Amino acid sequence: MKIDGTHYRTIWVNEDGWSVEIIDQTKLPFSFETVTLKTVDDAARAIKDMLVRGAPLIGATAAYGVCLAMRDDASDAGLEEAIAMLGATRPTAVNLHWALDRMRAAVHPHGHNLRMEAAYKEAAAICDDDVEICRRIGENGLTLIEAAAREKGGKVNILTHCNAGWLACVDWGTALAPIYMAHDKGLDVHVWVDETRPRNQGASLTAFELGRHGVPHTIVPDNAGGHLMQHGLVDMCIVGTDRTTATGDVANKIGTYLKALAAHDNDVPFYVALPYTTIDWTLDDGVNGIPIEERSAHEVTHLTGRTDTGEIVTIQVSAPDSGAANYGFDVTPARYVSGLITERGVTEASKEGLLKLYPERKNG
Ligand code: MRU
Repeated sequence: MKIDGTHYRTIWVNEDGWSVEIIDQTKLPFSFETVTLKTVDDAARAIKDMLVRGAPLIGATAAYGVCLAMRDDASDAGLEEAIAMLGATRPTAVNLHWALDRMRAAVHPHGHNLRMEAAYKEAAAICDDDVEICRRIGENGLTLIEAAAREKGGKVNILTHCNAGWLACVDWGTALAPIYMAHDKGLDVHVWVDETRPRNQGASLTAFELGRHGVPHTIVPDNAGGHLMQHGLVDMCIVGTDRTTATGDVANKIGTYLKALAAHDNDVPFYVALPYTTIDWTLDDGVNGIPIEERSAHEVTHLTGRTDTGEIVTIQVSAPDSGAANYGFDVTPARYVSGLITERGVTEASKEGLLKLYPERKNG
């Protein structure tokens, strides 16, 4: 996608042919800065501290982390240490493990002297694949927005939660890809952007992306969605997911489940957009099986933002002596999901629905 006329992906290899550049998402929306990753520790820190975030981009960054590790130590032990370290950075998004498994399979068969080259080739392929997959998710989701526009005969209001746009992937995004395509096609779309406390990925990242692309949008507090839906102001919800079970349960940023409940009560279609890399075929029960990341209470008790004089400051917003809990994700059971938008088409959120699109997974 473009920032001020320049096309960017969220991660790329620099002209030196080896160091890896990322957009520091902790600085957005106030400043667009990139950071250079030179070691596997840099890559692990970037994921853990959320300079990069979003399930597909976490996977892509881990893939390049393996490349950087192979520069320093291409032994079997070096490869496994890197995979273990990167795999421990964030627990919920399964793309991370998918990407690391793919890297191991591509790198391990080679002799030590060829491993680094094989790693860079595979990481680039993971990124290119992600871009193409997200483009197809966009095309498949676009049909749903077009149908809603025909039915309504006017503006389509879409609610999204967190950031599942191009900043969460390598390009395009998952939930936002159909919206970009609808907007580019001239459809009248407007997006309700949940602010997404505690880290505000909606207010700072989704709003930034949509604004730069010229898509009309409005930021709302996380607790406004139910009211908007009760008053006919939302035609559909589209969100992303960090892990989808084989039965169609979806883990996504905390608060997604409440939006799905409100959508269900108000007959608002609730769609989840995902690449196949997000499906965990080993799990059937999302609520009890998907590991939920717990992050620092500081993210709840404090807020970082820009003052009127342009200074970036962090302030406390809670009673000083109170503790806080910070569950990063929740699980929306498949029964509340109207459809899964994938690179292979739109399907029902169920084992049958997923197997129709991925028949090669019939045996697990
Ligand atoms: O904690 P984050 O910012 O990594 O959480 C991101 C989300 O929850 C996204 O909705 C999800 O990764 C899907 S991204 C295409």
